[in-house]
Amino acid sequence: MIKILYVCLGNICRSPLAEAVTNAELKKLGMEDEIVCQSAGTGNWHEGERPDPRTLEIGKTYKLEFNSLARVVTEDDFFEYDYIIVMDEDNMRNVRELQPEGATAEVFMMREFDPEGGTNVPDPYFGGAQGFENVYSILVRSVCHFLEYVMKKHVLTGNPSESRNG
Ligand code: 4NP
Repeated sequence: MIKILYVCLGNICRSPLAEAVTNAELKKLGMEDEIVCQSAGTGNWHEGERPDPRTLEIGKTYKLEFNSLARVVTEDDFFEYDYIIVMDEDNMRNVRELQPEGATAEVFMMREFDPEGGTNVPDPYFGGAQGFENVYSILVRSVCHFLEYVMKKHVLTGNPSESRNG
């Protein structure tokens, strides 16, 4: 089983949304048994909390499910997960600082997989609803291409009957 961890700052806006978008896409592909994902934050302010209400609102609009509570990224995550995908350059700096010797996870920036380019998934926390819509669009593009990358790399084909219908 391939394990992905999405990481942002607070783990209540971008990374839980990335997790929910990924779960929806994996369901469409019939890949839920082969690839799993979770999310975490580099900061601890929101530990144990559900996603931000504005994140939940986007989820309602696009029929996404959220089932995790905010937690902080740990050294163990670098051995537990195959991929750690960070949302911006600040997260990357923090994750690289935490990264222990011999870590096995591969670390990428989310927008390395955005076909439209870009560097950071912008932090929507201090803005309005439009920022969350923008994050959602970036994540849909990037997650789809990231999953393609993972499936190709691990020679996974998905469930043909489900992808024919979807
Ligand atoms: P996130 O957004 O990193 O996408 O979850 C933020 C959430 C909370 C804070 C900053 C960004 N905060 O400062 O509490």
